[in-house]
Amino acid sequence: MPLPILVTGGAGYIGSHTCVALIEAGHVPLVLDNLCNSSVESLARVQRITGVRPLWVEGDIRDAALLQRVLAEHRPQAVIHFAGLKAVGESVREPLAYYDNNVGGTTILLQAMQEAGLRNLIFSSSATVYGNPASVPISEDFPRSATNPYGRSKLMIEDILGDLVGADPRWRVARLRYFNPVGAHASGLIGEDPRGIPNNLMPYITQVAVGRLPELQVFGGDWPTPDGTGVRDFIHVMDLAEGHVAALAHLLGEPGMFTVNLGTGQGCSVLQMVQAFERNSGRRVPYRIVPRRAGDIAACWADASAAHRLLHWQARRDLDTICADAWRWQQANPQGLR
Ligand code: NAD
Ligand code: WQD
Repeated sequence: MPLPILVTGGAGYIGSHTCVALIEAGHVPLVLDNLCNSSVESLARVQRITGVRPLWVEGDIRDAALLQRVLAEHRPQAVIHFAGLKAVGESVREPLAYYDNNVGGTTILLQAMQEAGLRNLIFSSSATVYGNPASVPISEDFPRSATNPYGRSKLMIEDILGDLVGADPRWRVARLRYFNPVGAHASGLIGEDPRGIPNNLMPYITQVAVGRLPELQVFGGDWPTPDGTGVRDFIHVMDLAEGHVAALAHLLGEPGMFTVNLGTGQGCSVLQMVQAFERNSGRRVPYRIVPRRAGDIAACWADASAAHRLLHWQARRDLDTICADAWRWQQANPQGLR
C-alpha cells in the first residue's frame, strides 16, 4: 500500500471531495478532523462513491501529542491542510478563535511535521488574500491585503510558510488560493453542509429552492458590474479537488514553494448564478435586492493560467454542471448530513 496523504479537515466540504479525487488517483487519504464543522458521515459517503474508506482519526490539529503519534504510526508522504475556521463574519466577532485555530493550529502542525521529518505540505489559502483587487483577472503577483481576521489568518499562514521554506529548502510547499468553491460530487452523496443559515451564495440558493429559506437576498444591485450584482469566480468543488491531486504531483516532483490560483478564470454574477440554477433545477428562486453587505467587493476572478502552466490542470465543469450537481446534493440531503 502506498504511504498515505494526511488530509486535515478531510471530513469537511472541500476535504471530502478531495478524498474522492485522491482515491481515484490511487492515493490513500488519512483524514484528521475534529468534526467542529462536519460529520464523519461524509467519509462513509466517500466510501460509497469510491469503494474505499479513508483512514480516519478524530482529533484536533492543535493536539501536538496526537499529531506526533499519527505521523509516527502512518508515515504520510505529504499533508493537505484544510483544517480551519472559515466564516468571515464570525472571525470579526471572535478573532482569537480564528488566530488560535488557523494560525496556531498550523504552526503546531508544521512543528510536528518538522519533528517527524515530513516536509511536504499543500495549504488551503484563499482569494480573500487579494483584498479588494485593483483589477480583474487577478494573478498571483497582485498585492495582498486583508479586511477581516479570517483573511488575515490566511495572510499570516502564507507568510509563515514562506519563512519556513526560506529557512530550510527541504520543505516543499504549495499555497493554493481558492476562488469560490461551489457544487457537489455528481453522485449527490457529498456536498456543502453549512451549519445554520448559510453565509455563502450557493448554499443559500439551494436552501431557498428546497424550501428551507423563503427568499434570497441579493446584496447590492448597484455594483459597477454588467448587471449591477457582484461577480465571482465560481469553481466546481470536484475541479478544485482535482487541482489538489495535480498540485501534489508537482510538489512531490520538485522542491521549493509555489503559489497558484485555483479558479476557472471566468466571472459570473449573482443574478447569472440564480438564472443558471433555475434553469438546471426547474425551481424558482425568489430574490430581493437589498443593500450591499459590508466588506464585499464588486468583482473577483482568477487569472488561472499559472495553474495550467505549472500543474497542467484547469477547471473543466461548467456552470450548468455546478448547478445540477448542487441541486442533486441538496434534494437528496435536504437537511445535510448532520
Ligand atoms: P469546512 O468547514 O467544510 O472544512 C474544514 C474542516 O476542518 C471541517 O471538517 C472542520 O471540522 C475541520 N477543522 C476545523 N478546525 C479544526 C481543527 N482545529 N482540527 C481538526 N479539524 C478541524 O470548510 P471548507 O470549505 O472545506 O474549507 C477547507 C479549507 O479551505 C479551509 O481552510 C478554508 O479556509 C479554505 N477555503 C475555503 C473556501 C470556501 O469558500 N469554502 C475558500 C477559500 C479557502
Ligand atoms: C458571493 C456573492 C455576495 C450570499 C467568501 C469569502 C472568501 C472565500 C469564499 C474562504 C457576493 C453575494 C452572497 C447571499 C448574496 N472563502 N451574496 N446573497 O463573499 O465572494 O467569498 O467565500 O476563503 O474568503 O469571503 O462568497 O458566496 O458569500 O458571496 O447576494 O445571501 O454572492 O454579495 O457578491 P464571497 P459568497
